[in-house]
Amino acid sequence: MAAGIDDIAIYIPRLYVDAADFADGRGVDPAKLQKGLGVSQMAMVDTNQDPACLAANACLRIMQKNKLSPEDIGRLYVSTESSFDESKAMNSYVVGMLEQVYGQGTFEHCGGVETKFACVSGSYALYDNANWIRAGESDDKAALVVVSDIAKYDMGSSGEMTQGAGAVVMLLNDNPRLLAFDPKVTATSIKDEYDFYRPFGKETPIVHGQYSNLLYLIQVRKALDLYKEKSLNTGLIKLKPGETILDHIDYFNMHLPYSNMGKKALAYMVRREWRQLPRWNDIIKKIGVAEPTPKDPRGTIESVLGDAEFMAKDHEFTKLFTETSEFQEIYETKLASSLIASKMIGNLYTASLYLGFRSSLEFEYQKEMDLDGKRVGFGSYGSGSSAMVFSGVIMPEYASVVKDMNLESEIGPRRKLTLEEYEIIHESKLAPEQSMLNPKKEFILVDVKTDDESRGERRYAYNT
Ligand code: COA
Repeated sequence: MAAGIDDIAIYIPRLYVDAADFADGRGVDPAKLQKGLGVSQMAMVDTNQDPACLAANACLRIMQKNKLSPEDIGRLYVSTESSFDESKAMNSYVVGMLEQVYGQGTFEHCGGVETKFACVSGSYALYDNANWIRAGESDDKAALVVVSDIAKYDMGSSGEMTQGAGAVVMLLNDNPRLLAFDPKVTATSIKDEYDFYRPFGKETPIVHGQYSNLLYLIQVRKALDLYKEKSLNTGLIKLKPGETILDHIDYFNMHLPYSNMGKKALAYMVRREWRQLPRWNDIIKKIGVAEPTPKDPRGTIESVLGDAEFMAKDHEFTKLFTETSEFQEIYETKLASSLIASKMIGNLYTASLYLGFRSSLEFEYQKEMDLDGKRVGFGSYGSGSSAMVFSGVIMPEYASVVKDMNLESEIGPRRKLTLEEYEIIHESKLAPEQSMLNPKKEFILVDVKTDDESRGERRYAYNT
């Protein structure tokens, strides 16, 4: 039985910080954000928004757009790393908010949990729900998988340049209009690591950014190796001499802690795949420099990072490689469209990969590309750490959904924050009722109880 993504909706908070203003305030060259990281604007939550609100708003949009009733939904999963309760799952809050619109108890038949594994947990939730459908357990109901996060880093830290907030929800069913997942090729890797984590009670993560970047590449590559093995063994992909698995993937979507990370990840994967092929000799000739190799052939993350000479040479080589016409072609045709939304919105942790997919659909459609039957590859990474590589094929009916996608109108009118306003919000100095915006037809956070009896209880309202 087929299973896949029938539709996608997004909810992005309308406050944002402009990269140039931010750089000005921190004494950083704006080009570091705009060119170096690919960050133009970072979406920020208002004082009356939390990750559950973002998730509920995205769910309401997808339900209204598709005229779904709660009876049509069998599972509602929320994946997040911005959890605010150690026990009560975020999907329970989301159901509570949706029932304010659809009626109390209307989602009672529904199942679901909150999933956590840094930025990769949404991919596990998609996989598990796709399998629920494939197993014939869904009773013709659909699943909603919503990925929702507030990427917030300490003020003054290097991660502060890569913040953002938002939710993406995907409607999964057995007759998807957008994308059917390729069966039996989903591949994972997992390793106990401390590249990025958020201990209990701490609002912002502890991040070893450069270590995390490299770990992302290594873990995704390991999952890609397994994906390759599975897709060749199952016959999903058949290689002719001189070909790589990447030649059979028409679009790539990578996890995007910032948009340029997608380009870095693509360059890393492509180099490793092309290195085995005759075409690599021509590229090396063009670059005019031999590909550097680390002193320690084991290539562990510790040995690679400890080899400063290799790291410097490899950085330079990557730069030259990404300037070749061969890389530029694969970048422009298979990846670039997925990076546009991330530039405008910033890091969405679990939702970054899926905002990228959403972006790729909209902007490839605008280029009048025929997407029917195209294979889309996903490289998902979560710190701590695990990676998942999987793929799917765009379905013939995709245009009926994609034609209405419009990032700007779906975000809505945005308000730019001054650096002073941003810092006040960042340090949580205002109460929910002191919000900067007063949105209509949206869920908002009204109150978080502080008395002993009901500490942590949250109250939400639907603003009509
Ligand atoms: N003009 C143009 N580009 C510039 C520049 C300038 N003035 N200054 C720096 N850059 C470029 C750098 O060359 C680098 O590009 P490269 O990656 O192609 O080499 C890029 O901007 C970033 O600069 P860098 O010095 O590496 O930044 P940093 O060490 O201050 O921090 C991160 C970057 C991404 C590591 C940091 O923002 C971070 O930790 N973010 C959080 C990431 C995260 O959450 N990871 C975990 C989940 S995957």
